[in-house]
Amino acid sequence: RNLKRQMPCRVDIDRLNTPFIAIYESLIPPEEEKAKQKQLLTLLQRLVTKEWPEGRLFLYGSCANSFGVSRSDIDVCLAIGDANINKSDVLLKLADILQSDNLQDVQALARARVPIVKLMDPVTGISCDICINNVLAVVNTKLLRDYAQIDERLRQLAYIVKHWAKSRGVNETYRGTLSSYAYVIMCIYFLQQRRPAILPCLQEMEITYSVTVDNIECKFYDQVEKLRKFGSRNKETIAQLVWGFFNYWAYRHDYANDVISIRTGSVISKREKDWTRRIGNDRHLICIEDPFEISHDLGRVVDKYSIKVLREEFERAAHIMQDSPHPCESLFEPY
Ligand code: CTP
Ligand code: MG
Repeated sequence: RNLKRQMPCRVDIDRLNTPFIAIYESLIPPEEEKAKQKQLLTLLQRLVTKEWPEGRLFLYGSCANSFGVSRSDIDVCLAIGDANINKSDVLLKLADILQSDNLQDVQALARARVPIVKLMDPVTGISCDICINNVLAVVNTKLLRDYAQIDERLRQLAYIVKHWAKSRGVNETYRGTLSSYAYVIMCIYFLQQRRPAILPCLQEMEITYSVTVDNIECKFYDQVEKLRKFGSRNKETIAQLVWGFFNYWAYRHDYANDVISIRTGSVISKREKDWTRRIGNDRHLICIEDPFEISHDLGRVVDKYSIKVLREEFERAAHIMQDSPHPCESLFEPY
């Protein structure tokens, strides 16, 4: 293990730029998908307004954070200002309304961890999950989307990493591996750490956007169109960055002591967060701080078995990028 953990020398990584860019471009959804999503959202908003005049629908997750692939389901949040509503009543009522408007496969999952109504729109063919008052997710979606606008290499890296994670079966929270959301945060953190940095830390800059949600102050710099040149002094290619990412999580990250934090743009210690031992079901074996719910470790789903799987996959990926004659096939080989 020790030998394997030595930093391997960087070989001809750049041969992977062309195939990586090709994969990235093939995964980006075409513009007409956005139009269809808008169309469905407008229909749903009209139905919602009839019952809850104050109710507003927001997209969140991969359909809105710019890290979504083609033909994915969309995630919608119904925000109803009133905090005293009974979520399951609203959910059931909403399911009723949608059902009577010819939407298909309408199903209320009132007892799920995040209660949702599922539906399929026969006109656009889009499937959609609607949750109630999950406004933090809408705000963290904006943060991710804003980061994506600063340097295209974030989107490229995150698409490759998500594609790898899905192919290798390590994007399954119900089996103890990481969410897509966690992987994107890991990518942002990694690009904040490059020297020169490729991404800034938006939450440490002048505040231009601020909302308070569930008693959490969410504030950051969001005039990202002014930051388009931020990473330009760094010339690293996407292949070097993908390799660096896997190398970091395979050999460099200090799993015993460190928490990664895009909120501070730095590493913080597990001790400082009191994440050094298992509390309840949170084992803190890989620590990824949520940017707003800072008591949330996005790695809390990882257990003593799945941490091994994850770390072996990071090592496998780093090795393949160095040594394999056909790295792209092996890297994304179905597990
Ligand atoms: N989310 C969150 N906290 C988590 C997991 C998810 O707030 N621990 C929210 C985030 O707003 C995230 C959204 O739920 O954008 C969807 O999460 P996820 O399915 O992990 O990410 P997607 O970007 O939708 O990825 P995929 O393409 O795999 O659907
Ligand atoms: Mg999703």
